[in-house]
Amino acid sequence: MGLDGLQRAPWEAEGAAKRRVVREIFASIAPRYDLMNTLMSLSRHRRWREQAVARLGLRGGETVLDVCCGTGDFMAPLSEAVGPRGRVAGADFCPPMLERARDKGFANLALADACRLPYRDGAFDAVTVGWGLRNVPDLRAALSEAYRVLKSGGRFVSVDTAQPRSALGRWFSALAFRRLVPLLGALFGHGREYAYLPESTERFLTPEALAEEFRRAGFQDVWIERKMLGHVALVGGTKR
Ligand SMILES: C[S@@+](CC[C@H](N)C(=O)[O-])C[C@H]1O[C@@H](n2cnc3c(N)ncnc32)[C@H](O)[C@@H]1O
Repeated sequence: MGLDGLQRAPWEAEGAAKRRVVREIFASIAPRYDLMNTLMSLSRHRRWREQAVARLGLRGGETVLDVCCGTGDFMAPLSEAVGPRGRVAGADFCPPMLERARDKGFANLALADACRLPYRDGAFDAVTVGWGLRNVPDLRAALSEAYRVLKSGGRFVSVDTAQPRSALGRWFSALAFRRLVPLLGALFGHGREYAYLPESTERFLTPEALAEEFRRAGFQDVWIERKMLGHVALVGGTKR
């Protein structure tokens, strides 16, 4: 007898199993990842990253890191913000996602886990993470690593999906996340992988609870900004 039906759903995995499942999910959807992002966000995803980068207050010449960099879409606005004198590094633990970032011309890419970054203490002026914290197997370790690699005065921002608070937001969520996203995923032959998105969002911390985890990790001046009826939340903080 096979094990189908006995295994846990991907969004129920924890610890080492979560690390493995998440890496497998992103490896399988890497070829369609950018297209799906554009469809699912109604083309808004680039704007949210730009808004997150704007909150970092970069002036040019800084050294910045994008954790869970995937296909490199956060690295584009970061490169623009730090300009030719700055440096942008990216880290991700999924080789097919990193390969796409490399194909887009990004360098300084590391195959690395967000919970154990291969950089020295205080190496960066800013750290970003887009749609990544929800996926890491140990949130506290990932936040503590982001904090460790930041300089004093360095800024950190996360962009991720969130559960809306308003009735309108929840209605939109039921339609877009629960129906359209899995349908789109199924059209591309990845129904199970795209079922992971709404399920993992529902299981993830609220932006307020995530902000509390930022404070616990040592970040100060922690802030929250919601987008798209509360479907997306930017959470940021500073290392003092
Ligand atoms: C939803 S994608 C986001 C990609 C990119 N940040 C963006 O803005 O489009 C999540 C990425 O996080 C990576 N990831 C998940 N868990 C990770 C971990 N523990 N360490 C490093 N990368 C991880 C995945 O491989 C995937 O590329």
